[in-house]
Amino acid sequence: MKKPANWNRKHLIGIEELDRTEIETVLDVARSFRGTLDRPVKKLPSLRGKTVVNLFMEPSTRTRLAFEVAAKRLSADVISVGGKSSSLSKGETLRDTASNVQALGADLIVLRHSSAGSPLYLSRVLDVPIINAGDGAHEHPSQALLDAFTLRERFGDLAGKKITILGDVLFSRVARSNLWALSKLGASVTFGGPATLVPKTFSEFGAEVTHDLKKALADADAVMLLRIQHERQTSTHFPSLGEYTSMFGLNEARASWLKPDAIIMHPGPINRGVEIDSSLADSTRSVILDQVTNGIAVRMAILYLCSTVADLQRKEVPS
Ligand code: CP
Repeated sequence: MKKPANWNRKHLIGIEELDRTEIETVLDVARSFRGTLDRPVKKLPSLRGKTVVNLFMEPSTRTRLAFEVAAKRLSADVISVGGKSSSLSKGETLRDTASNVQALGADLIVLRHSSAGSPLYLSRVLDVPIINAGDGAHEHPSQALLDAFTLRERFGDLAGKKITILGDVLFSRVARSNLWALSKLGASVTFGGPATLVPKTFSEFGAEVTHDLKKALADADAVMLLRIQHERQTSTHFPSLGEYTSMFGLNEARASWLKPDAIIMHPGPINRGVEIDSSLADSTRSVILDQVTNGIAVRMAILYLCSTVADLQRKEVPS
């Protein structure tokens, strides 16, 4: 596969800086990789000889494993390092850790970190491509791209589609990245939830903001539930989880306000019985596990595109 003309980035830091054609390029490349996931022989040679290092300083199941599977499907070697098992726990800085990972031969680094801006920082001080796998409450670009991919698989063109994102928007990197991705693709994004977790200021970035659940769900083509991000909250934003669920949890009665063909999404991990009832998470309207599988193809596209640009840039620099 030749590098698409519309992709010239070595790093993937966020969706905010991407334009529509760049987003569409990732999704189109992901589409071609998606077909390979169901083949008996799944491996492609695209990243043969490359080493991808997953540097995950926060817990992860889906993102880390999907990047691992994606890299392996592209024939790369993959090494995953967790925060507690690395020398960061002995006081080493992130920059020193990542510089050592580069010196050990990494060709790409996939970073998850609690500090917003840490992938951008590493991209400025290292030579290897840096892929943001979630930085604090800032961005989670690969998640938004797989969400957009899943929506496009269902609806085709997203122009005019209403996507409601419900829950802890304030602390959610998924909400921020999805706002950029979906609005650039022509969808209208509604943020819903309690006023303490969905401030009106989000409307300045182009989202509709409502604290009225019925209004948030009415006419939505898709609803994406968000988990309460307890790990990022330093103060209490609602009286109790029970109260949150009784006011904003998606249950069968509230799901009846949705259009019959509306789909239910969740980036995971799900807190069953809190933001969503199990009967809905496991229903035929749920595309939650499709999101996970599509995440492999989207991460294959990201690794492939960024690695290809890095190789081309290396060739252009005379040694
Ligand atoms: N959606 C998501 O980021 O899940 P993980 O935290 O399990 O990677």
